[in-house]
Amino acid sequence: MPISLAILEKITREAGNIAMRHFNDLENVGITKKSSRDLVTDADVAVELYLKEALAKAYPEYGFWGEESGQSDNLSNRWIVDPIDGTHSFAKGQYFWSISVALEIDQDLVAGSVFAPALDDLYIAAKDKGASKNGKTISVSSESSLADSMIATGFACLRSYLEDNNLDRFSRIAQKTTGQRRFGSAAMDLCLVADGQVDAFWEQELNLYDVAAGALIVKEAGGTVTDFKGKEGVFPKQILATNKNILDQLLLLM
Ligand code: IPD
Ligand code: CA
Ligand code: CA
Repeated sequence: MPISLAILEKITREAGNIAMRHFNDLENVGITKKSSRDLVTDADVAVELYLKEALAKAYPEYGFWGEESGQSDNLSNRWIVDPIDGTHSFAKGQYFWSISVALEIDQDLVAGSVFAPALDDLYIAAKDKGASKNGKTISVSSESSLADSMIATGFACLRSYLEDNNLDRFSRIAQKTTGQRRFGSAAMDLCLVADGQVDAFWEQELNLYDVAAGALIVKEAGGTVTDFKGKEGVFPKQILATNKNILDQLLLLM
């Protein structure tokens, strides 16, 4: 069955409603640690369970890979889900967290939606069909000077032990731009590039469920998604999303 963006949006919005019920009652939300600095809340689990069931009901032919429940059998045609991207922000009562849902067919991302329920912003895209935010077409910024650019990045505290933990790269790039931001949700960071609110985003050591939907949204909004050497594609261990104009300037600093 061809994918309907209207159905994808409806399911993602309902997932957002479930997350918001928990967000509005944070003191009663169970929070446990997957590892020393990696949180999981009742909302992560409830949203993923809902998405797994709702997507299977609407599209039984596709498999499912979610951060919290893992992978189903169908590895080539599957939904790739991060139920809450930005769990730490969620748990602190901040607004920058999102639900990320992507459809991958034969290793090609064909649809993606990212919903930030606390901001009521829903980004959605289908391959070769453009990207939109809350029903309006979006495109990346036209900024062509790195010196005048605003760039987002992320630091995974749980991966701070890595020799390359992004701090050197951050200091190099921060000195060459007008502004740096750390919002706390990679899926949202990518959507902000797609919407021209920031001119680029990079992060490293992520997983495909963090970036699959957002990367498609960036590409459909006219941006580029590469690794740190400029190779096009979605490489979660080294992801660089730009408005295209400042790609070469950034690559020199990666
Ligand atoms: C995290 C967010 C954050 C990024 C972390 C991710 P989670 O996802 O995307 O922005 O810096 O590396 O792990 O754990 O909240 O789903
Ligand atoms: Ca995530
Ligand atoms: Ca998550």
